[in-house]
Amino acid sequence: MKLSWHEGDMPYSEEFGDFYYSRADGRDECRHVFLGGNGLPGRFATGPHFVIGELGFGTGLNFLETWSAWETTAPDAAVLEFHSFELRPLKRSDMMRALSAWPDLDEKSSRLAAAWPDQPAAGISMDFQSTGRSIRLRVHAGLALDTLETLRFRADAWYLDGFSPSRNPDMWSAELMRLVASRTREGGTFATYSAAGWVRRNLQAAGFTVEKRQGHAGKRDMSAGHLGAPSLQP
Ligand SMILES: C[S@@+](CC[C@H](N)C(=O)[O-])C[C@H]1O[C@@H](n2cnc3c(N)ncnc32)[C@H](O)[C@@H]1O
Repeated sequence: MKLSWHEGDMPYSEEFGDFYYSRADGRDECRHVFLGGNGLPGRFATGPHFVIGELGFGTGLNFLETWSAWETTAPDAAVLEFHSFELRPLKRSDMMRALSAWPDLDEKSSRLAAAWPDQPAAGISMDFQSTGRSIRLRVHAGLALDTLETLRFRADAWYLDGFSPSRNPDMWSAELMRLVASRTREGGTFATYSAAGWVRRNLQAAGFTVEKRQGHAGKRDMSAGHLGAPSLQP
């Protein structure tokens, strides 16, 4: 992935013409959109096993922020399974440069970097232990449409985090949203920063109930919802 850097540590994809996360505050965006939009971390407390799917691993920021929330809110010995789908896994040095913006994540980003392969292969698999809880990270390299097809997990929650729909339409296609729905347990949730009409329609056609919510940092809207009828709450 050809990157350029803004303000020292803010990665921008030259290929897609977009930033990896909000320029206002990527971490706060993660908390508001992806965690908050999926009712997390509150739902972590409800059981011994939780499964998250993510479209777009990028720098790993969403993963690390989720890990931070998991280690303080999940029941003892609970297991988090985090499946992320990534077309262009970043080099370790680029990942670390981006994540250096959040020094309090240093311990976790160093553990992620230590386990990150020099030459990202088709499947990146790593397990972490943290405050007595487990985290299983699986990064599936390739086109999300191809790799997701081969897997049989059912997510409790999805982070839909492709680049902006106008620049990265493959990550929001009707076909991919149908596949996401088929890998979601009934009542499972999704959240995304996007409120684009055609993305919302693709999610609805796939079987999700879609709601508009207040966006992050001055953005008017974002989208979140759950699989199934409006009455079926997670
Ligand atoms: C907005 S960034 C993700 C940011 C990330 N969640 C983070 O925490 O840094 C979007 C990511 O989607 C990936 N991507 C774009 N098209 C893809 C595709 N068709 N399949 C899988 N990944 C794709 C890009 O390489 C990029 O890393």
